[in-house]
Parts: sequence; structure tokens; C-alpha cells
Amino acid sequence: MNRFFLFSTLLALGVALAGNSLSDTGEDKPGGAATSKGPRNRSAFSNPSGNLPFDKQLDFKIGDGVFRKLWVAAPSSTKSSDGLGPLFNARACQACHLKDGRGRPPAAGETPSSLLFALARADGSADPVYGHQLQTFGIQGHAAEANVETTHELRPITLADGMVVTLRKPHYKLVDPGYGPFDRTTTIAPRIAPPMIGMGLLELIPEADIMARADPEDLNGDGIRGRFRRVPSPSEGGAMKLGRFGWKTGTASVADQTATAFKNDMGLSTPIFPEDYGDCTPAQKTCREAPHGSEGNEPEVPQKLFDLTVFYAHHLAVPAREGIAAPAVRQGQKLFNDIGCAACHTPKHVTGRSDSFPELSGQTIWPYTDMLLHDMGDDLADPNGLDGSSPLGRVWRTQPLWGLGLTRRVNDHFYLLHDGRADGILEAVLWHGGEAAKARDRVIALSGSDREALLAFLESL
Ligand code: HEC
Ligand code: HEC
Repeated sequence: MNRFFLFSTLLALGVALAGNSLSDTGEDKPGGAATSKGPRNRSAFSNPSGNLPFDKQLDFKIGDGVFRKLWVAAPSSTKSSDGLGPLFNARACQACHLKDGRGRPPAAGETPSSLLFALARADGSADPVYGHQLQTFGIQGHAAEANVETTHELRPITLADGMVVTLRKPHYKLVDPGYGPFDRTTTIAPRIAPPMIGMGLLELIPEADIMARADPEDLNGDGIRGRFRRVPSPSEGGAMKLGRFGWKTGTASVADQTATAFKNDMGLSTPIFPEDYGDCTPAQKTCREAPHGSEGNEPEVPQKLFDLTVFYAHHLAVPAREGIAAPAVRQGQKLFNDIGCAACHTPKHVTGRSDSFPELSGQTIWPYTDMLLHDMGDDLADPNGLDGSSPLGRVWRTQPLWGLGLTRRVNDHFYLLHDGRADGILEAVLWHGGEAAKARDRVIALSGSDREALLAFLESL
């Protein structure tokens, strides 16, 4: 027998085996070399990039401290932590991004905190009195802007095998306004705090790679459009960049998102937004004139603390996967591709190069998102008024799915989607509409065992 034949047969066999091994594709390490080295436990979202050198791990730890820091009202004896508010939603980043994971909708009678409400008038502009965002708390002597009451509409859905899932659609009402009436056309739009893992990796996916997947006119006729938008980046002097972060890609970078959070969520000034009064409008005079925590040219959050917070947010690592070779998980993964989930939840990307973040550069990552905006149908759309008339009201960024299966372990709940309305993965999928309606209908039509396999795959992420 000829040696060449034997050699090529062995080679083909080797390739086939390698092609079957998920650890060879790198899928077991969704963040590449930056994947977390920690276990899949309650703290699974709080670890640094696995390849972060020792000296930078110290910066990560200090950044963690700032992320957890409880800010207090000014003036206070703890000068380095004062300046909160006067109006605010939470006293620490960590209070919304609980355990570096996600927030949750308020329980009955509770004031919302990790579920924010964006405010906008019919023309998209901010409320003239209440600003861009509802602050549900005020420091002593300052009324909260309002509270929100939630009611639920029940929607039973029957799946092909007879299983009934009852979805709950939330409706929100503003109550107890603290500063007079809202503008007649102001509407509120809920936004839950998303998990914090893998942010730096998502920031490094090359703009061109994301834009290349967009198909706003659906020229290939597959029913999936995918758009992107360009937004000003305040941390880069207002340069227009690809929107990446937030449920509607409203910010271009982790630094921009962090500065916005300090300002709108906690009422803290940063080198990027130097106003000490956060989202308070000129109509909220007492808020604008209240004592603040900045000193001289130094904002409430000085450059050094700001940079450490951003560094921390960049390097929160994606957990490694477990049990990916189980037959049900692999069957579920095949279904995920076959029924069209991967058309938006793009499994794999390669990050670009950055001198500032060498550990995150050039990594093959598995975030399961195209980072594009998709029309998800009427049920998920923002209420009329908030971009209701523009295409933005109906679109959402494909949410990354890495770490999904750890949600309950980290956060003690499984509330998903931009407003936390879905309880668990199946409900989240059943809420998909618009461009994703076909994929959702294929899930409804699955046999019980195929559905379980699909869920097993998603739980393994
Ligand atoms: C009051 C709750 C709250 C606080 C406090 C808060 N966040 Fe957020 N965070 C959110 C919400 C809500 C979003 C989604 C915003 C949107 O869709 O516009 C978000 C989004 C983010 C994102 C982008 C996530 C993604 O997947 O696109 C990052 C990064 C982030 N926050 C970092 C921070 C940092 C750093 C702090 C502290 C300086 C902070 N956040 C404080 C609620 C909060
Ligand atoms: C047309 C694009 C598109 C398709 C197709 C699609 N999704 Fe999504 N998916 C999204 C968007 C956008 C969101 C965020 C929607 C929101 O929060 O309102 C999302 C959210 C999710 C979530 C919730 C994630 C979280 O962290 O809250 C899960 C789970 C999910 N998708 C799974 C699936 C599965 C499984 C399929 C296939 C049956 C699928 N998706 C098909 C675009 C898509």
C-alpha cells in the first residue's frame, strides 16, 4: 500500500476529529486568552481577563473598589466619595450591575433602581423639567423625580407539543412627580442594567467587520436587516463613531458609557462631563444650586479614578464554558444555527489590535452577537413617543449570549431582555418578533426534546 495513501487517510481522520472537538475551535474559551480563569460560581462575572499580567491585576482590583464605592452627598467628611446626586438612581455602579451581572425589575411596591427609565418627548428631545432620565432617588432635602408603578398583561402561548408558556408584558405608569407635571408628550422607556462581562473585547471588534454584516435594505432577502448607527463619542472630543454599548448602541465606548453612568445614574462629574448636578435641568433650580463634591478643577470623579473604573469595566472576563461536548448541547448548537438564531447572534469574531489593551487584542471570541440593531417587533418596541416615530423605537442591539447560563447563579434571578420582562431563556425567545419572528416560530414548532436541546446549549454558554 502506498505510503501517501495511508498518510492522507490518517490526515483526513485527524482533521475530522479536530473538526469535531469544540476545544479546538476555542468555543470552550469564549473570550480567547482573556477568558476568566475563575470557576463558574456566584462570582463568575467578577474575574479579570485570564491573561492580565500581575501588575495590571492591581489596577483591576482598585477599579473594582471604585465600581463598588458607595457615593455620599456633599459636603461630607469623606471628601473622596462625596458629590452624589442631588438626584440619582443608585449610589454605586455595582448597585445596578449586581455582582457585575445584570439588574432586575422592581418587586411589587419597590422603587426601581437597576431598571432605569429613559425620558423623551414625541420629537425625541428630553423632558424640559425632568431631563433625559428619571431619577428615582434624591439626597436629603431633594425630592425624587417620581416613582413608577408596574402592571402586567398576561399572554399565554401554546407550543407545538402542547406546553403553555404565559408571558407577562409590563406596563409602566409615572406616579408622585416631585417637580410638577411632565411634558404632555413625554414617555418613559425601561432599560435594565446589562451584565458587564467582555466589554473590552466587544469594543475591539473592528468597525468594518460589524458594518459588513449590516443589510438595512435586506438585499439578500433573508428577512434579517441589521443596521448600525454612528454616535458622538464625548471621550474622544465628540468624534462620530460606531455605536456599540447600551440596548440601542447609544454609546461608542466603555469610557463614554461610564461617564454617562456617573452623570445620569449617580449625579457625579467626570473629566468628560464636568457638570456636578448630573441630569438636573435649569427648571430644577434647587438641584443645580446644591453643594457639590468637586474641588477647584478636580471633578467629583477625578481622572485617575475614572480611568481605573474604565479599566476595570474593560477587563471583566467572560467565563469559560463547561459541558460543551454533551450530546444535547451539541444538538442544541446545531439547532441554534439551523433555525436562524445565528443570523443575528453571530457566534464568532476576532478582535482588532489596541496598544491600550494588548491582552484583549487579536483574540478569537464567541459573544453570539452581530452588534447590530434589529427591528424586534411591536411588543418589544419602546412606547410611542420615545423615538416612536423614528426607526430607532423598534430596534435593539442583538444581546450577547456569553455567560447567559450563569445568570441565575450570579444574580439569583433569570429576568432577561432590555426591561427584564422575560423569566428565563424560553420566555426571552418567545418575545422575539419583527426580524426574528421566523426564528421564534421555529422554536414554537420544535419537539419537546429539540427544545430541551436548544435550551441546554444556551444554558452552557
Ligand atoms: C442606576 C443603574 C445603573 C448604574 C448605577 C450604572 N449602570 Fe451601567 N448600565 C445601566 C443600564 C440601564 C444600562 C443600559 C443603558 C442603555 O441601554 O442605554 C447600562 C449599561 C452599561 C454598560 C454597557 C453594557 C452593554 O452591554 O452595552 C457599561 C459598560 C456600564 N453600564 C458601565 C457602568 C459603570 C462603569 C457604572 C458606574 C460608573 C455604571 N454602569 C453604573 C444601569 C446602571
Ligand atoms: C433578528 C435578530 C435576532 C434573531 C434571529 C434572534 N435574536 Fe435573540 N435577540 C435579538 C435581540 C435584538 C435581542 C435583545 C432584545 C431585547 O432585549 O429587547 C435578543 C435577545 C435574546 C435573548 C435574551 C438575552 C439577554 O441577555 O437578555 C436570548 C436568550 C436570545 N435572544 C436567544 C435567541 C435564540 C435562541 C434565537 C433563535 C431562536 C434568537 N435569539 C434569534 C436578536 C435576534
